[in-house]
Parts: sequence; structure tokens; C-alpha cells
Amino acid sequence: MSEEQPSPETPTTAPLHGVLAEYNTPGEILEASRVIRDAGYTKWDTYTPFAVHGIDAAMGIKMTRLPWIVLCAALTGLTTAILLQWWTNTIDYPFVISGKPMWSIPANVPIMFELTVLFSAFATLGGMLVLNNLPLPSHPLDLKERFAKATDDKFFLLITAADPLFDETDTRELLESTHPAVLDDVPEDRQTSDKLPRVIVYAMIILTVAALIPFALFAKARETQTRERRLHAIWDMDFQPKYKAQRENLLFDDHRAMREPLQGTVAVGGLKTDEHLNQGKIDGVFARTFPRGITVTAETIERGQERFGIYCAPCHGYSGAGDGMVHKRAAALQEGGVAGSWVPPTNLQQQTLYEQPVGQLFDSITNGVRNMPGYGHVVSTEDRWAIIMYLRALQRMRVASLGDLTPEERSALK
Ligand code: HEC
Repeated sequence: MSEEQPSPETPTTAPLHGVLAEYNTPGEILEASRVIRDAGYTKWDTYTPFAVHGIDAAMGIKMTRLPWIVLCAALTGLTTAILLQWWTNTIDYPFVISGKPMWSIPANVPIMFELTVLFSAFATLGGMLVLNNLPLPSHPLDLKERFAKATDDKFFLLITAADPLFDETDTRELLESTHPAVLDDVPEDRQTSDKLPRVIVYAMIILTVAALIPFALFAKARETQTRERRLHAIWDMDFQPKYKAQRENLLFDDHRAMREPLQGTVAVGGLKTDEHLNQGKIDGVFARTFPRGITVTAETIERGQERFGIYCAPCHGYSGAGDGMVHKRAAALQEGGVAGSWVPPTNLQQQTLYEQPVGQLFDSITNGVRNMPGYGHVVSTEDRWAIIMYLRALQRMRVASLGDLTPEERSALK
């Protein structure tokens, strides 16, 4: 039974939007909801100041479809991440990094995770808005002053006239049977425009256009060529006022950016005062002895053998006979008719070199000899002497006699 008649200020000309029942307690609205649900109404809703437990079931509201929408979005995000990375890494821009495979799952997991979350988040927000018919610029209930109490201490139930079962008298009677505190007609809102305010529309258009400007600039920058420096937002240390090697520097007369060291400059560790050690000479004459500090030991000879294998064997061969791979290749090319002169590497085992002073061998390795380039800049001083020591062993090998062997070695041969 209604205690109040429809408020007198309600314009009777406006068509009916629905009937609004007001209750004082959550228990009452739960009870009323069950009645309306069981009567078969579909287009109705309740408004409460706080979440009322059990109201979903009382109203017959089914589980939301939102999780399914989000699941689809998540799978789309995952697929997008996989396809995007697979396509860019293996097809569009294949780039070998440390011999790693172009495509492997673990490296791509972070982006897969990120896009899954991103797509899900947008689907959740967008799906929630769409499923709830939001945003809703105006609603007929906005004009009901009493309805403001839905945010305070009153509970409302609205059955809209759009419901197929709606009948002005029957519906009102049904609602009265649930004993509402107030029962009220809600007329359609004829005063508020249901269009978005112009200001908002214009602001949205301007913002959308403004958001596209950076992309337009990107596109232009990609397609055009200019001598001007491009817009460079973060400079870091990209443009430094410094001179680079091999570039021009107008500050100096010779316009070279690289400067020669001052006359007489000695690099750290570059002081070479020991004539015997560094030039292989004693008083200007090639030395016949190894310098002090270079002692004949098995280790030194082994070191020399290793260095010889790296720096000399390619041309002179492992036995020093002058038959290294470089020589073989050059000889084969010449036999094939390729023009050009080739000076064969010297046979290092020949008698003249056996008799040559070690100082002269040192000089040949350090500074090169006739057609052979010098190796002083790549092989350290000690290593050059070690190579010579090994070279001597090689040469000795050719002229070795039984007398060089120990009695045990000799008996082993027999
Ligand atoms: C790029 C090939 C090449 C390499 C590498 C090379 N040599 Fe030679 N070497 C030559 C050639 C060619 C000659 C003969 C040059 C000539 O007669 O014009 C030669 C000559 C020599 C001679 C004879 C010098 C003389 O007085 O006649 C010696 C000793 C020698 N090399 C030692 C070495 C040692 C030790 C190494 C390793 C540090 C070495 N070479 C690495 C090509 C090479």
C-alpha cells in the first residue's frame, strides 16, 4: 500500500519511464527483489547505498560474461606477442646475436606476458563499460530528489516501462504487495539532453587529432630526407664537441685531428736501451750469443715452438723447410696461371742460416728482411728470442749425429 501519491510537480505529459519503490532495509529490498524476479520481470534494477549480499541471486542475475571477454583478449594478446616477435626476429629483421637461435620461447616470454596483461586490462575496462551501457550521460532517476538517498540510507527498486510484462496498474499492485515505504512514478526525462555536452565533444576531437600528430611526424621523418639534424629529444652524449681520429681539425696547420707524439716520446714500457736484447747487437755487430735474461730451458724452447707455429709456420712450414700453407697456396695459384711474382719463404734449415748469428735472425724477425715483413710489432721481444731458440733446435736437428744422443736414447734406437 502506497503511503504517498505521485509527487504533484511530476509533469503528467511526459511518458512513464518506470515505477520506483523505496525500502528502508536491505532485508526488505531482498524480499521485494525475489517477488519481482519470480513474477518474471527482466528490465528492472535495484539501487542500494552499499553492496547487499545475496542481491544477485535475489534478482536472478546470472554470472557476468566479462571473464570470457577477458580470456579472449588475453589469448589475442598472447598470440599477437608471439607472432610479432617471431615475424620481426626471423623474417623481417633476422639478426644473429652470439649465435643464439633466431626464435626461442624463453627470450620472448616477457613481451608475451606484457601483451597478455595489456590486452586483458583494456578488455576488462572496455567490456565492463559496454556491458553496463556506460557512459550514461543522463538518467530519468537523476531528476528524482528522493533518489539521492540511494547513496545514503534508502534502498530503491525500479521496474521500467520497457519491460514486456509492464502494466501500469498490475506492476504497481505487485510492488505495493512488497510493502515499500514509498511508491513513485518516474517520468521520462524531457529536460536533459541525452547527448554529450558540446565542450566534451570538441575537447575529444581536439585531443584525438593532437594524439595523431606525433605519429604523423614519425611517418614524415621516415619518408623524407633532410640536411637538418632531426628532432633529437634525448641528447645524452650523442653530439660531443670532440675531434675524431682521421678527421679534420682546423686548429692545427696540418689540419690533422690526430697528433704525432712529441719528439723523443717513449711509451710506457717502451724504453729499449739494451742493445743486445732489443737489437740483437753488441757494439753494432750482430751478437752470436743470447742476451742476458734469455736462458736456454725446455720451457723457453717450447714457448718458441708454439709462437713459431703461430707466426712463422704459415709461410716457412712447421719444420722451417719453406713449405707452409701460404707458400703452397701461392705456388698453386701461379701454376694455375695467376699473374704476379711470389718469392718463396726461405728454407730456415739451410747451412748459411745455421751459421748466421742469432742477433741477425733477431733483426730479420723484428724488422723483416727483403720480401718478408717484420714481426716486431706483434711478437714480444722475449718471444722473438724464444722463436730463435726453437729455430736453432730445428736447424740442429738436421745435422744431428748419433753422438748427440744419450747412451739410453742410443740403446732405445737399436
Ligand atoms: C708471410 C710469409 C712469412 C712469414 C709469416 C714469415 N716469413 Fe720469414 N721469410 C719469408 C720470405 C718470403 C722470406 C724470403 C725473403 C726474401 O728472400 O726476399 C723469408 C725469409 C726469412 C729468413 C731468412 C733471412 C735471411 O737472412 O735470408 C728468416 C731467418 C726468416 N724468414 C724467419 C722467419 C721467422 C722466425 C718467422 C716467424 C716469426 C717468419 N720468418 C715468418 C716469408 C715469411
